[in-house]
Amino acid sequence: MKQIRLGSSFGTDNLEVHTCDIPTPGHGEVLIRVRAAALNYRDWEVINGQYHTVYGPGLVPLSDGAGEVVETGPGVTAFDAGDAVIASFWQGWHSGPLADSLHAETLGGPLNGMLGEYRVLPQQGLVKAPQHLDFAQAATLPCAGVTAWQALVTEGSIQAGDRVLIQGTGGVSMFALQIARMHGAQAIVLSSSEAKLALARHHGAKATINYLSTPDWADEVIAVTGGHGVDHILEVGGPGTFSQSLSALAVGGQINVIGYLGGKEGQINPLQILQAHARVRGIAAGPTSTLKQLCDAIERTGMTPVIDSEFDWMAYEEALNHLTSAQHVGKIVLNV
Ligand SMILES: NC(=O)c1ccc[n+]([C@@H]2O[C@H](COP(=O)([O-])OP(=O)(O)OC[C@H]3O[C@@H](n4cnc5c(N)ncnc54)[C@H](OP(=O)(O)O)[C@@H]3O)[C@@H](O)[C@H]2O)c1
Repeated sequence: MKQIRLGSSFGTDNLEVHTCDIPTPGHGEVLIRVRAAALNYRDWEVINGQYHTVYGPGLVPLSDGAGEVVETGPGVTAFDAGDAVIASFWQGWHSGPLADSLHAETLGGPLNGMLGEYRVLPQQGLVKAPQHLDFAQAATLPCAGVTAWQALVTEGSIQAGDRVLIQGTGGVSMFALQIARMHGAQAIVLSSSEAKLALARHHGAKATINYLSTPDWADEVIAVTGGHGVDHILEVGGPGTFSQSLSALAVGGQINVIGYLGGKEGQINPLQILQAHARVRGIAAGPTSTLKQLCDAIERTGMTPVIDSEFDWMAYEEALNHLTSAQHVGKIVLNV
């Protein structure tokens, strides 16, 4: 089998194609023929040595993947050969709150990821894919989809009629838009691009704001919500957007800190948090139970993830460049 690994130095052009034996599943394990792997911003950071944890040579990157079960080890009861399955990003976080002991168990660093033809994983770290999704669509769910669901549903208890502010039109953001709509909530989407905002409206955004032409977008958010502000925010901008997010929040609203695309350091005014009665929490994707809930909801509603583009997996360099060019809306997928 072939797999792609980090080379002796960082950078997309230092990834190496390796040939190795197809692994054998042990007790409780499942051998998967990987059919698709989806890109996340984190993957680019890992490959370039810019993630908050630096991983060494030999790591197989990419956190998200889906494929077909080809063989099950002794003791596997949940899956059979031929099942379409999705790998959970947090292999050891099965359900409930995040615990310190789980920190070293995520795919694509420190555990080997999904950029190979085969992967053996424990049955507890897998979920059956929704039947109407193809492998490319199924592969998009573990990081971006789970993060949006964990923020809005598991932690946020989103209700019909809630107002949700979504920053950007990338992978997490488009899932958040679809999940908000699925729950009867109203989504307001920020983007740097009018074309992307038009696509967001096409996918059901109630209001859209261009954060480049309206840099003080919090005022506009307050205006389009009739003075109420928003009940949930998916914060991906970091220090550049956090203060505006606090200004756009309804009293008692929730801010989910998910990304820090604008940098890692900035100023916080605690008084703003106090005055808004804000609930601010970090979201680190979610457990396998969240992936299962997301899959169930997708199957029930017939939702399909928004895929921007698909590449052959050997065109990984081109696909990663497309991710960093920020031209995309939704997910970028490699077909293996
Ligand atoms: N905590 C977690 O568990 C978790 C999970 C997944 C991702 N993340 C993080 O979340 C962030 C987004 O991930 P992703 O996979 O969705 O990335 P992505 O697909 O690359 O999308 C990033 C989007 O962010 C938007 N953006 C950038 N700067 C912005 C700003 N100042 N204001 C508003 N929007 C801005 C851009 O939107 P436009 O192009 O529309 O302007 C861009 O499309 C990354 O930082 C990633 O590391 C965290």
